[in-house]
Amino acid sequence: MKALAYEKAHVLDAFAIQDMDIAEPQLGDADLLVDIRAVGVNPGEAYIRSVRSAAAGGRVVLGWEFAGIVIGVGSAASGFAVGDRVMGTGDVTRDGGWAERLAVDHRLVAQIPDQLSFVDAASLPIGGLTAWESVFRDRDTLPTGVERVLVVGGAGGVGSLATQLLKARTGALVIATASRPESREWCEAMGADLVVAGRLRPIVTTPLDGLTPRNMKTAHELLESKRTIGKIVIVA
Ligand SMILES: NC(=O)c1ccc[n+]([C@@H]2O[C@H](COP(=O)([O-])OP(=O)(O)OC[C@H]3O[C@@H](n4cnc5c(N)ncnc54)[C@H](OP(=O)(O)O)[C@@H]3O)[C@@H](O)[C@H]2O)c1
Repeated sequence: MKALAYEKAHVLDAFAIQDMDIAEPQLGDADLLVDIRAVGVNPGEAYIRSVRSAAAGGRVVLGWEFAGIVIGVGSAASGFAVGDRVMGTGDVTRDGGWAERLAVDHRLVAQIPDQLSFVDAASLPIGGLTAWESVFRDRDTLPTGVERVLVVGGAGGVGSLATQLLKARTGALVIATASRPESREWCEAMGADLVVAGRLRPIVTTPLDGLTPRNMKTAHELLESKRTIGKIVIVA
C-alpha cells in the first residue's frame, strides 16, 4: 500500500517524507483495520520526526490522529463492525496513519458522530483527549464544588475544546484568556461566558531541563505552592 514515510530523523526544514510502497499492516487480535480517509497533523509528530530514525532498511510512518472506515475487525476487538466510521489516536510505538490503511488497537478508537466529516473528526483525537483529561480526568465531570473555570489560551486547540466540553457537559462559568481580537472572537464562538485580555507573566522561573514526567511534577508542585485559590491543571 502507499504511505508517507521517511528513513532518517530530520527537522521540518529538511523535508524528507516520501511517497513509499510499504507492506500491508498486520491485524492483531485486538485490532481494527482502518481505511484512512483523513489525518490530523500534530506538533508532537514534528518532535518524533526530529528524533526517531528507522532501523536499517526500515521506515517510519507518522500519523497518530486519523479518521476512516473499519474494513477489518480482530477476533478480540469488540464494539466495532466493518463499515463503521471511526477516529482515533493510534499508538506511537506502531506505524501511524499517514498511509492507506492502519492496524490499531480498538481501545484507541471511537465512533465518529454522524454530523462530523472525516476531516473534522481527524482534527479531534489528541486535542480532544487532552482537553477532556484536563477538565474531567476519568470522572466525566468537574470535581464537586468547581463552578468557574479559567481556560488560559482559550483560542488554542486545547483551550477551544476545553471550553466546548465544559459548556456542553457542565454548568460551570467558563472564562477564557485571549490576547488578540481574533482570538477573543474565537473564544466567544467556542462558548466562553467571559473573555479576558492579556497574556500571563511567568510566575515560576525555575528552569526545567526538558519535558519529562518528573519535570512536569516539579512544575506542578511549584505552581501549587503559588496557588491561593482553586485547582491548577497544566498541559505542556
Ligand atoms: N494541541 C494538542 O493536541 C496538544 C496535546 C497535548 C498537549 N498540548 C499542549 O497544550 C498547550 C496548548 O496547546 P495548543 O495546541 O492549544 O496551542 P495553540 O493552539 O498554539 O494555542 C496557544 C494559545 O495560547 C495562548 N497563549 C500563548 N502564550 C500565552 C500567555 N503567555 N498567556 C496566555 N495565553 C497565551 C495563545 O493566545 P492568543 O491567541 O490570545 O495569542 C493561543 O490561543 C501546549 O503546551 C501544547 O504543547 C497540546
